[in-house]
Amino acid sequence: MAEAAVLLAAILLALHPLPMSLSAAAGGDGGGGDSGTAEAAADRITALPGQPRVNFSMYSGYVTVDAAAGRALFYWLIEAADPASAPLVLWLNGGPGCSSVGYGASEELGAFRINPDGRSLYLNPYPWNRGLVANMLFLDSPAGVGYSYSNTTSDLLTAGDNKTAHDSYAFLVNWLERFPQYKYRDFYIAGESYGGCWLVSSVSRFDTGDDPRSGA
Ligand SMILES: *[C@@H]1O[C@H](CO)[C@@H](O)[C@H](O)[C@H]1NC(C)=O
Ligand SMILES: *[C@@H]1O[C@H](CO)[C@@H](O)[C@H](O)[C@H]1NC(C)=O
Ligand SMILES: *[C@@H]1O[C@H](CO)[C@@H](O)[C@H](O)[C@H]1NC(C)=O
Repeated sequence: MAEAAVLLAAILLALHPLPMSLSAAAGGDGGGGDSGTAEAAADRITALPGQPRVNFSMYSGYVTVDAAAGRALFYWLIEAADPASAPLVLWLNGGPGCSSVGYGASEELGAFRINPDGRSLYLNPYPWNRGLVANMLFLDSPAGVGYSYSNTTSDLLTAGDNKTAHDSYAFLVNWLERFPQYKYRDFYIAGESYGGCWLVSSVSRFDTGDDPRSGA
């Protein structure tokens, strides 16, 4: 059952923020939600169906993780009301096969819950973008889960911890190009259930890969 899912881990990725001068050079004062790239602006969610008014910004869209295979992961970013003052948290549900958008964001720690009519939303009283004051990045992973997909059908049969970690890393590198104001923000990865395994393999991949924030 949903309630039985246990939060396994929330760990700080051991990458230290770079000096603020570099942060400024990367282009984001991070103030409002409007200082990002044109791609980010195109991902801006103006309002979801039946959504109450809110004082924070949201974005969603696809990030290609393997162009040759045609593999792309879907994300939903729910920012804090003052995004520049809050860390970035990548959230991974488990399964394998559980959507972070459908489950973590919509039934657990996202900004909204879905009304029984299935047509409108109400405010979650305990959203992490307010309670924890974090910018919450919900990622549907691996390809084949939630809205994430691959145009290479065999990808759905060859998913595993290693490939999922490599895709998460590719996602983050490419996502940060779209949202450069997050390159120098404190960064955490959190998840539940099997997401605990993915966050460990992802952290180890992030740790051995080039720091995605160094390539501004
Ligand atoms: C997958 O194929 C569709 C249809 O050709 C295309 O529009 C889309 O861009 C492809 N996805 C990726 C990630 O290349
Ligand atoms: C945003 O709204 C919440 C209540 O929904 C409030 O607690 C918070 O102070 C507001 N933040 C800002 C920056 O206005
Ligand atoms: C892990 O996945 C990457 C990318 O798919 C691949 O290049 C690498 O060989 C894999 N490593 C292992 C140990 O399977």
